[in-house]
Amino acid sequence: MAGEDEDQAVPAAEAALPPVSGLDAKAAAAEHARLSDVVARANLAYYQEDAPFISDAEYDASKRRLEEIEAYFPELAHEASPTEQVGAAPDTRFAKIPHRLPMLSLENGFTEGDVESFVQRVRSFLNLAAGAALEITAEPKIDGLSLSLRYEGGRLVQAATRGDGAVGENVTANARTIADIPERLAGDDWPEVLEIRGEVYMSHADFEALNRSDSGRVFANPRNAAAGSLRQLDPAVTAARPLRFFAYAWGEVSAPFADTQMEAVRRMQDFGFQTNPLTRICTSVQDMLAAWAEIEQMRATLGYDIDGVVYKVNDLGYQARLGMRSTTPRWALAHKFPAERAWTRLEAIDIQVGRTGALSPVARLHPVTVGGVVVSNATLHNEDYIAGRGADGSEIRGGKDIRIGDWVEVYRAGDVIPKVADVDLAKRPSEAVPYVFPDTCPECGSPAIREEGDSVRRCTGGLICPAQAVEKLRHFVSRAAFDIEGLGAKLVEELFRDGWIAEPADIFTLQDRYGPGQLTQLKNREGWGEKSAASLFQAIEKRREIPLARLLFALGIRHVGEVAAQDLARHYGSWEALEAALDTARPAAVAHRLAEEAAQAERAAAAAEGRRARPSEARATALAQVDLPEEAANAWAGLIAADGIGPVLAMSLSDAFANARERAAIDRLVVHLTPLPPEKRATDSAITGKTLVFTGTLEKMTRAEAKARAEALGAHVAGSVSAKTDLLIAGPGAGSKAKKAAELGIKVIDEDEWLAIARG
Ligand code: IVH
Repeated sequence: MAGEDEDQAVPAAEAALPPVSGLDAKAAAAEHARLSDVVARANLAYYQEDAPFISDAEYDASKRRLEEIEAYFPELAHEASPTEQVGAAPDTRFAKIPHRLPMLSLENGFTEGDVESFVQRVRSFLNLAAGAALEITAEPKIDGLSLSLRYEGGRLVQAATRGDGAVGENVTANARTIADIPERLAGDDWPEVLEIRGEVYMSHADFEALNRSDSGRVFANPRNAAAGSLRQLDPAVTAARPLRFFAYAWGEVSAPFADTQMEAVRRMQDFGFQTNPLTRICTSVQDMLAAWAEIEQMRATLGYDIDGVVYKVNDLGYQARLGMRSTTPRWALAHKFPAERAWTRLEAIDIQVGRTGALSPVARLHPVTVGGVVVSNATLHNEDYIAGRGADGSEIRGGKDIRIGDWVEVYRAGDVIPKVADVDLAKRPSEAVPYVFPDTCPECGSPAIREEGDSVRRCTGGLICPAQAVEKLRHFVSRAAFDIEGLGAKLVEELFRDGWIAEPADIFTLQDRYGPGQLTQLKNREGWGEKSAASLFQAIEKRREIPLARLLFALGIRHVGEVAAQDLARHYGSWEALEAALDTARPAAVAHRLAEEAAQAERAAAAAEGRRARPSEARATALAQVDLPEEAANAWAGLIAADGIGPVLAMSLSDAFANARERAAIDRLVVHLTPLPPEKRATDSAITGKTLVFTGTLEKMTRAEAKARAEALGAHVAGSVSAKTDLLIAGPGAGSKAKKAAELGIKVIDEDEWLAIARG
């Protein structure tokens, strides 16, 4: 198959070629030979194999160039040239049917100038006076495949594809299965012999349903699906495919049945055919261009593919006078839309790290023209998109994954970033392997982690990731964080750009490096002076003492927002306590992360196997396999027991503190600072910030109620006694815990004393 011959598949961008008038005979001959080959192979791939390997726009460009060369160098034109051919010779699997009247192609136009010159040519051919009226119809150009239906005595006797325009393929049995094609013409006012021509196509909805169904083959687009479905040896297969048909032209007729194109359309409707409802009459070039623009606007919502607007001279008497060139009528023009989709090779996948740490895969493509623009990059969205499946196992693109080396379809709608929409598995190189999405950040090497329910993998490098550095600094100086007077987002960006500040710690050494006595000084920067520099240094000095909650928020750790930072500050009371707890809890955080991954894997496996998922079981099994030190389990329990702190936040916090390079950046910062413990709130109680343990039987409230009450008062309730326990509430039957508390010198109270505290 021609399409598999990848090296020669994509012709050079024709736009970059020298003007034909500048070619010498030798160069022209060489280029003519090359383009003839490309166009001939493209014809074969498109018409016979239903598997195009170049975009329509590239095909059109190649063919136009070929025509131009033949116009300048007529000796190169010959009968077998692809410019003289329509489509490809019929497939030998089907019986041949010679067309009594050739099935023509259409001249293509791309610009307003092309439309103007078409009208001008028609007018001068017909010798119409400048003011004389000329009606031209405009109708969508359906992106399907053309079919000629022969009716004799009102009965369908033969259906033929276009083939090479002179001889088509007999697909009569298949055509009979299409609902839009009447077996008998309606009414009785039809010519004895009538060949109706039109387009077989598939709607978007039917195409998607077909690709989702288990019919075997996955089609790249509705046109290929329509062609593949019509050109089936077994009509039962065609019958099962939802094909449609629009009538727009005719071939042999035993008697004329209309005087104008528009009337012919209405008559074909009367005969029982679908005709396109957007067909209209235009009376000027402006009208035609307006119709084109209007139809293009509707393109996305029509529910079937169109690739341009066809203009036809309305008066059939004029059409007859205008006649045809070798393969195209003089009375029609196809005004094409810029192609919005094109196939090309995926050369590489790059990972970009966004300002917030999101890892975004970008497709590097062999350049291709899409919608009139050369595209060499396209988004691949995220990990799941490449894999062809969501984390829950649901299918994307029918479950097809994307590999480097694949032929992919690029899609561009309006101004939106191009995206890779499809992949052709038939052209997958045998050596292509599934793409493995990186689990470390390509910018800073930190682990890149994907949280449950998040489709995006994110770098955990926070402060140390260069891709995120500016964003982190902006966040660090923001109002709810360090809020340093005079050091706003704009200045911090400037200082970053100039290399004065690379990370938050650098803010606190700014004066040492750029203050009085230094070679380069802040006061000498443009727009600065002695006073302004001094007051910035002073504002920075003032912030060396910082509320713990602000510091925690300023670090920009994922999920640690303002409220969570306050909760953490209140729960731990000091930087040291928080740091110690995170270090102790680390093994538990790792175990929980692994358990979470096991739960996710279970969900995906269940979806693939079509059974109900048991994520909690998978999570529990994974956790049971880890032998956690008791103190790690306790510290973890303490962390997630804090008000407002869930496992997701706890894991994120733990990751940040466990990342050696990020921890070093935090340490470099904290040496300059004195974090202030949270101020007591009005609602604070005797047990706020304390760690409580309950033991024995509580008689006046349940254990759950006691725990909730203690937490509401700002205490942390732990499951076992340790050096960190502040208070043990011991009911009757208290055993080892009471003993341990006594040994550690921890205060022990009974239920009544607890009730006094609980009631506030
Ligand atoms: S008129 C004499 N009208 O486009 C020409 N063709 O690129 C008869 N096509 O071969 C065709 N929509 O397969 C005509 N509204 C339309 C069309 C249309 C699609 C196809 C047709 C034709 C091809 C030329």
